[in-house]
Formats: sequence, C-alpha cells, structure tokens
Amino acid sequence: MSQDQKKCHLICVSKALDDAYKRLTQSDSKSLLKKYLTQEIYDELKQKQTPTFKSTLLDCVQSGMMNLDSGIGIYAPDPEAYSVFAPLFDPIIEDYHMGFTPQNSHPPLNWGNLNTLVNLDPQNKYIISTRVRCGRSIEGYPFNPCMSEDHYIEIEKKMENIFQGLSGELEGTYRPLTKMTKCEQERLIDDHYLFKEGDRFLKAAKACRFWPTGRGIYMNKNKTFLIWVNEEDHLRIISMEPGGNLGDIYRRMIEGVKAIEQQVSFSRSDRFGYLTFCPTNLGTTIRASAHIKVPKLSSDKEKLEAVAEKHHLQVRGTRGEHTESEEGVYDISNKRRLGLTEYEALKEMQDGILEIIKMEDSL
Ligand code: ARG
Repeated sequence: MSQDQKKCHLICVSKALDDAYKRLTQSDSKSLLKKYLTQEIYDELKQKQTPTFKSTLLDCVQSGMMNLDSGIGIYAPDPEAYSVFAPLFDPIIEDYHMGFTPQNSHPPLNWGNLNTLVNLDPQNKYIISTRVRCGRSIEGYPFNPCMSEDHYIEIEKKMENIFQGLSGELEGTYRPLTKMTKCEQERLIDDHYLFKEGDRFLKAAKACRFWPTGRGIYMNKNKTFLIWVNEEDHLRIISMEPGGNLGDIYRRMIEGVKAIEQQVSFSRSDRFGYLTFCPTNLGTTIRASAHIKVPKLSSDKEKLEAVAEKHHLQVRGTRGEHTESEEGVYDISNKRRLGLTEYEALKEMQDGILEIIKMEDSL
C-alpha cells in the first residue's frame, strides 16, 4: 500500500467504526462490549493499531457491532491486541472471568489430582454425555483474522504429521473439511462432534476466511477424542463420551494435550496463560460440560439459573451456544477459565453439576 492508500484506508476504517459505534450505543444490546466501550475508551482507542499486524479497534469489535445479540462481542485479532486495546479488553475479561483484574496473573498449569474427580451420574439418570475441551494457539502464528491462506495450510500440515504419531486410545484419523461431503459434515455436527459452518459471530470477526481450507477434525476410533483444526482457535482438543465419567474424560484430554505438546509449542502469556482468539477462553481454556436432562428444574428456570450462578456455571441450550433447550436438555459448563487452575475449573463444574442433580432428584 502506498502512503496515500494507507491514509485512505484508515479514514474508511474510522468512518465504519464511528457508524457502527453509534448503532451499538443506540441499541439495547446486552453485550459486554456495549457495557464497557464507553465514549471515553472509544476515543482513547479508535486510532490505535497493533504493532505487528496493524489490527484496529474495528477488527476487535466488529463481530459484536454486527451481532447486537452477542454476549461478549469482542475478539483479539492478534495476540498484541490484548495489550494495545487493554482499556477495553481488561474490564470485559474481569467481568466474564469474575474478578480477574489487571493486577492478577493466571496461575501456572496444574492438572491436579484426577482421583478426586468422580462419575457425576453413576446411575445414568440425568447425564447424556460429558465433554472436556481446551483451546491452543500454535506459537508463531497470529489468530484467524490475520492468518493468510498459507498459514491455514501450514498449520493443518503440521498437525496431520503429529496426528500420525498418536497411538493407543488416541489413535485415529484426520478428516479435512475439503474432503468431506456436506452430508457427512451435517451428521457429525448433529452428533455434536464437529463445529458448525458459518457461525455469524466468527464470520463477522473475519475468522472464516478461506473456508474450508485448512479446517478439519481428527477423531480416534471410538470418537471419544477429537481435535478441531483451525476453527475458532488453531486447535481445540476435546475428550467426550456418553455418561458422566468426568475423571476419565479429563484424563484422556490431558493425554492428548501432552502428546501434542511434545511436537509443537503453544502460545502462552505470563498474565493470561494460554492465548486464544476469544477472551472468554483465555487462561486454562478449559470448558468442562455435561449434556444433562433436568426436566423438573427446566420448568423452574429461575432455580436453575440461581444454582448455576452460585457455582459459576454457564447454561447453554441443547445444541450449545446461542441455542435453546430442547426437552429439558441443557449444556452446562464451568464459565470462567482464567485466574484459576485447570483442576479448579474442573472442580467448579463437578461441584455445580452434582448439586444440580441433587436438586432435580429432590423435586
Ligand atoms: N462472540 C460471541 C458472543 O459474544 C461468542 C462468545 C463466546 N463464545 C465463543 N465461542 N468464543 O456471543
């Protein structure tokens, strides 16, 4: 770009940003973006850019500005955005992760004592399936909006090589999206294995460019260990199975993380732990969830919300984020992932789910 073109580009960005900001402030959006992007912070940040990838405030906030029903509304286009746009990211992070202030640092990795994690539903009455996932970014690569098509291809190649070395319970096959029929994809999505295509929140954040290049899913034979490649994060490492055997599911995810970590370095910051595209996933990046059927509590939504809040849980609909519950089935997980250890995140989910089951039993 010539100097003139650069100037023109910046003027366009600033006009688009002003318009979108106006729309946001006039809307009744409940997003954390709307809550924390005050005029003062907006004015402070609107001219800033990250040093390496030149990401702007618009790159951070466009998803939440285009999707006024966002819960959060902000993504980090590259790792530097977390510091350059800290006056906006910090309060959002503090709110979502419940009190992680700019003075706090994320603790070192600690998987904890797995023997203290139990089967959450030994009689198989309530829990349909349990899942534990973490996200990882590969060192040396930016996040989605700043990735080139070659970055996607390189990461996928790197991972395909690593997958070939996975053995025992983790052994499986990698399926690139480019070689899957729509029908196969839909089946895997319906069975809760694969990510959806065309998530409007990610799309607006420029996280779906060059789709389906470089995207795919690795699955072990039993479909209990999965890795998503280049969806929202470079990697999502997932362990899941029917029932409530949390300890075993968590153990398998850890094995997978350790096996991959021997071959590739992950991006980690002193303050935020593992770095991810979305600020909700920073830190441990762990989301431990149960697909749980609680028809009685479901008809007393207030009660369910109250117990969830008490245990710092997040209640999602049957098909996950931004969906409704079908027949009293919810996807319930730990909410915060930053400022506590991996083990503490698991324990928070376990304690909460056990209480929810107890309540449902007593109704
Ligand atoms: N940007 C979306 C919102 O604000 C999703 C946020 C959290 N989920 C995620 N997959 N990162 O509602």
